[in-house]
Amino acid sequence: MNYIKSFTLILTFGLMVFFPLVSKSQIIVSFNLDQPQDTISRHIYGHFAEHLGRCIYDGIYVGENNNEIPNINGARLDIINALKNLNIPNLRWPGGCFADTYHWKDGIGPKEDRPSMLNIWWGNTTEDNSFGTNEFLNLCEELGTEPYLSANVGSGTPQEFADWIQYTAHPNNSSPMTLLRAENGRDKPWKVKYWGIGNEAWGCGGNMTPEYYANVYRQFVTYANNWNQTDRLVRIASGASSSDYNWTETLMKNIPNRMIEAIALHHYSVIDWNKKGSAVGFDESTYFKTMQKALQMEELIVKHTAIMDKYDPDNKVALFVDEWGGWYDVEPGTNGAFLFQQNTMRDAMLAGTTLNTFNNHADRVKMANLAQVVNVLQAVILTEGSKIVLTPTYHVMEMYKVHHDAALIPVSFNSPDYLLNGEKLPAVSISASKNKNGVFHVSVVNIDAKKSNQIILPISDLGLKSFSGRILISSSLQNHNTFENPTLIEPKSFNDFIIKDGKLSFSVPPFSVIILEGK
Ligand code: AHR
Repeated sequence: MNYIKSFTLILTFGLMVFFPLVSKSQIIVSFNLDQPQDTISRHIYGHFAEHLGRCIYDGIYVGENNNEIPNINGARLDIINALKNLNIPNLRWPGGCFADTYHWKDGIGPKEDRPSMLNIWWGNTTEDNSFGTNEFLNLCEELGTEPYLSANVGSGTPQEFADWIQYTAHPNNSSPMTLLRAENGRDKPWKVKYWGIGNEAWGCGGNMTPEYYANVYRQFVTYANNWNQTDRLVRIASGASSSDYNWTETLMKNIPNRMIEAIALHHYSVIDWNKKGSAVGFDESTYFKTMQKALQMEELIVKHTAIMDKYDPDNKVALFVDEWGGWYDVEPGTNGAFLFQQNTMRDAMLAGTTLNTFNNHADRVKMANLAQVVNVLQAVILTEGSKIVLTPTYHVMEMYKVHHDAALIPVSFNSPDYLLNGEKLPAVSISASKNKNGVFHVSVVNIDAKKSNQIILPISDLGLKSFSGRILISSSLQNHNTFENPTLIEPKSFNDFIIKDGKLSFSVPPFSVIILEGK
């Protein structure tokens, strides 16, 4: 107890040193307890691993014969443990653009017999197929996470797709693909429920029109058999890029609801595709622009959902934001096609606000996949030789895991503006939930680079007795964890709140994330 008090004092003092002249707006939050409570699907907290740069090779997978880096069947133990700590609910694989060039049969059987291929999208590197279906699905089992396989539609066939489902999920050992599976040392099926029917079909997945893709989609899913009778397949249509509403409209119009469980959406927070800017060397106005792009997620979900409502009023088809995150220039001296970037407090802001947006749209958004899990784009883990770094984004994901499968408590409040150069953004983002044990959590993000904001929560109706909290904060937006200093940014305990007259109030400092728990 004394430890907590002294820690709070130190933290409060620290915050005063960081931000001595802050002014605050008061935000009075309402919890709409009488509204229907959607469940926040844990799958919103999903990840994505592509054969791209150092995500799989020299990232997750270091090879079964590696004696220097501890591994389980070739997958790094430190990464496995870090991902287990996030309770990652699903992992999307093998792409991305790579998926529409991938022929899964090249990635099974004895490794020395597996053919190589060129990875045409990501630097023309030689892919030796040593990490394939068995390696990926065994890794998912080790992680306790659900696999999400992206099928090759752009350069593959419906037969190849149907065989992949049979190989992974057929329950007995007498079908041609299960005999092959048994030959490769695996008798029982894995649990593979999530199937992407191509990726970015409007671009690297075949440059198709939405009308054409809708027909191809219908053709492919005709052969998607639910071999594992206990779990219905979730068939995911390749979705729109950001605000391409026509893509969603055309797919919803042309694909009958009975043939589709989810439609995807990709949105990257990029300030300018020709001039993305450094991941760590940016000024406040660049930060502001990144946050503008990130906060666009709200509008995108609202508008894509409105189109889906028109064709699916019963809300049977989910929206899966299966690629999202910040995208900057690669780190100096690294391969331009490998998309390796550092991860700062800006990324923590991006992650915190985006996850709040997903939570608050839990009625339609049932899955999301941060791009990507290791060493690529807004990664939660970076590696260098035997070292790993957990990024600020990792810590946000870890703090928010309390929302997994909890009942959403809708919130309403008026956010103060974050003002810069005559433009404004909502400074504060909030989401709240109650888990199955009745434990309440609220996550609050203040993206304002200079100003604290005062939050007032009406807690008297929540029936809670004790509160505790955690905060992710640092002295500069550009701060990041490095291989030399991997713990510069880590969540700290936060108890700097006051409870009075049925209200809990606290100040949320500039560019920080706070999670409060009430029991
Ligand atoms: O995540 C990197 C790439 O971005 C993916 O391969 C592709 O789907 C998207 O364009």
